Amino acid sequence: MKEFKKYLYIVNYPVFEAELCMMEMRELFNKEPNNKILISERKFNPSNSPFIKNRLDVIYEEDSLEQILENIKADNVSFEKFKVEYLRLETGNVPYEERLRSVREIGLLVNGFPDIHNPEISLGITKVNEKWMFGINIRNDYEWHIHDRKPCSYSNSLSTRVAKAIVNIGTKGHKDVKVIDPCCGVGTTIIEGLSMGLDICGCEINPQIAANAKRNLEFFGLEKRVTKGSMHDLESHYDVSIIDIPYGLFTKTTEKEQRGIINTARRISDKMIIITFEDMDDIIKEAGFKILDACKVCKGKFTRYVSICK
Ligand SMILES: C[S@@+](CC[C@H](N)C(=O)[O-])C[C@H]1O[C@@H](n2cnc3c(N)ncnc32)[C@H](O)[C@@H]1O
Repeated sequence: MKEFKKYLYIVNYPVFEAELCMMEMRELFNKEPNNKILISERKFNPSNSPFIKNRLDVIYEEDSLEQILENIKADNVSFEKFKVEYLRLETGNVPYEERLRSVREIGLLVNGFPDIHNPEISLGITKVNEKWMFGINIRNDYEWHIHDRKPCSYSNSLSTRVAKAIVNIGTKGHKDVKVIDPCCGVGTTIIEGLSMGLDICGCEINPQIAANAKRNLEFFGLEKRVTKGSMHDLESHYDVSIIDIPYGLFTKTTEKEQRGIINTARRISDKMIIITFEDMDDIIKEAGFKILDACKVCKGKFTRYVSICK
């Protein structure tokens, strides 16, 4: 069977996270989705992103459905316990009857037993920009949503979705990157990073909050990679630091302390992803960082700013 080194990603996002989704896609794929579709040669696990719904591993790409059917027949495509689905996209006007026909005819041509109720493999067919694409459909399992129910949370916590996206933005989806969240709170980013198999650790100055971070990690069966203490005492060097800056809204923080945190991030890391409640560009630049990209994200009535700095 001919295998294309092409992946079709279908993304989705709430309006208030649109900018964050675009930033994540730029960092992972060097481009933005168009009409919630992104085609790339990079293979990325959809379950590691809060925004990717499906990844279609493209086996055939043809001008017509008929040619796709011919290929399936000629290559004797075989799968056991499969199900065929039409992947509906925001664009492309494929009438219901044609969608149904594509699914039915592929189902009849693929060798092996289908299993519609408990499939072991999902096959996808869709039409994108006048091209028909057929392949293996990998869905986001959304298992990471269990992290929404961590035992210890607090008003300062990032959401699971935002933490996941920020970790991807920091690492560009690579595993060989050493990451620290030196003001980690209850460990939201550490939970996401560790469960994606990354080399990530945290530090938290408040003993009670540090203990809560460890409780959260233990609850999810993850290594308790959080140190109680001030980030200013850190001596190791990291590829990336994720700074969710303490802000006077919930805990008493002065501008001097915020400056100190950003200066220390400059000392301990090559790259910083910083989340702030206000424009802190001047302070970031004064610390010696260059701002490479920035976006806004909302949580309730608050706007947070995410900046990629090097
Ligand atoms: C905005 S909160 C982080 C929330 C975290 N992202 C979460 O989702 O739980 C900032 C945290 O930085 C901690 N912090 C402040 N100064 C620090 C320092 N010098 N070293 C380490 N942690 C510090 C605060 O105690 C607070 O928990």
